[in-house]
Amino acid sequence: MKPIKVGLLGLGTVGTGVVRIVENHQEDLKKQVGSEIEIVKIVVSDVNKQRSIAVAPDKLTEDAWEVIRNPEIDVIIEVIGGTTTTKEYIVEALNLGKHVVTANKDLMALYGGELLEIAQRNSSDIYYEASVAGGIPIIRTLVDGFSSDRITKIMGIVNGTTNYILTKMTQEGASYADVLKEAQELGYAEADPTSDVEGLDAARKMAILARLGFHTNVDLNDVSVKGISSVTKEDIQYAKRLGYQLKLLGIAECDENQVSVSVQPTMVSNSHPIASVNGVFNAVLVTGEAVGETMFYGAGAGELPTATSIVADLVAVSKNMKLGISGKRVNAMYKPTVLKTDEQ
Ligand code: NDP
Ligand code: HSE
Repeated sequence: MKPIKVGLLGLGTVGTGVVRIVENHQEDLKKQVGSEIEIVKIVVSDVNKQRSIAVAPDKLTEDAWEVIRNPEIDVIIEVIGGTTTTKEYIVEALNLGKHVVTANKDLMALYGGELLEIAQRNSSDIYYEASVAGGIPIIRTLVDGFSSDRITKIMGIVNGTTNYILTKMTQEGASYADVLKEAQELGYAEADPTSDVEGLDAARKMAILARLGFHTNVDLNDVSVKGISSVTKEDIQYAKRLGYQLKLLGIAECDENQVSVSVQPTMVSNSHPIASVNGVFNAVLVTGEAVGETMFYGAGAGELPTATSIVADLVAVSKNMKLGISGKRVNAMYKPTVLKTDEQ
């Protein structure tokens, strides 16, 4: 069978994980997809940079357009980040009928609706599981797992960097600046960590989850956001003495079609399961009218957990290609706004 050919945009923390998983799990992937998955080209900003992974030099390029326009390539994986050039890359890829997998929550929170429309017009897929909660398959779970229920609340820790910082400040009395630096070195933080520590990254993720869970559009400007940059060691120690953990919590609620979404540092009682979610781990609690409360837990950032979600999307997109249903499930599964019904 013809291999699925992939162009990988980015070989940083997440891109490196994608290469490792595709290489190390090739046989398992092949059993599921029915053919090999081959990363043909990898786009970076500097081909001469030292890498933590060995890549054939002829695979690396600084020319993203050449890769996107390469007619041999079926799927583009975007793990560069940012919302300007990457949006242009993704739009071009979709317009050329290629399928896209991205970890880019900034882009999906801002332009998700537009990109999904473009994908639909071109019978292309755009999947973005890795954009929320790293290795937890929460998007699939919300869209497929809870399709029978009416979700009323989505709450959780959806930023690994800030949870790592708060945990180290609580457990080791470490300084905010030192732990932030550590989180950057570990590859958890965004290129500009302001979006992590000011709560914007969590706000974008909560907007994505709220759209999918409540089947309605959520404007990012309507999300109330407060980060952790002004949290002090004293705040944390005070909470600890009272039997609480300070956590950056995202809360999205839907009541009689009224949706509210917020992100803020919150005192969580030690007896609540969220209180024991530490380090880079994330947890999302989903409450449905019928199912009641459920909780999903796992690494929220980092090379391999995030790449797990990307490669799972790659498998899904490849299966869709094989079944000839590309661009169809994109609506049924991933489009956040309400679908057209037969009466409309
Ligand atoms: P990194 O900064 O580690 O990697 C970015 C990669 O993109 C690098 O390989 C870099 O090249 C390349 N790059 C940057 N600018 C350009 C450009 N203009 N043209 C071509 N290549 C470019 O980022 P991450 O891997 O951490 O994150 C990537 C995406 O994944 C972001 O959207 C992020 O929000 C998202 N994400 C990250 C997670 C994480 O844990 N890190 C988790 C979930 C999502 P070079 O190597 O030469 O510098
Ligand atoms: N900077 C993000 C975080 C990466 O720390 O959660 C995962 O989306």
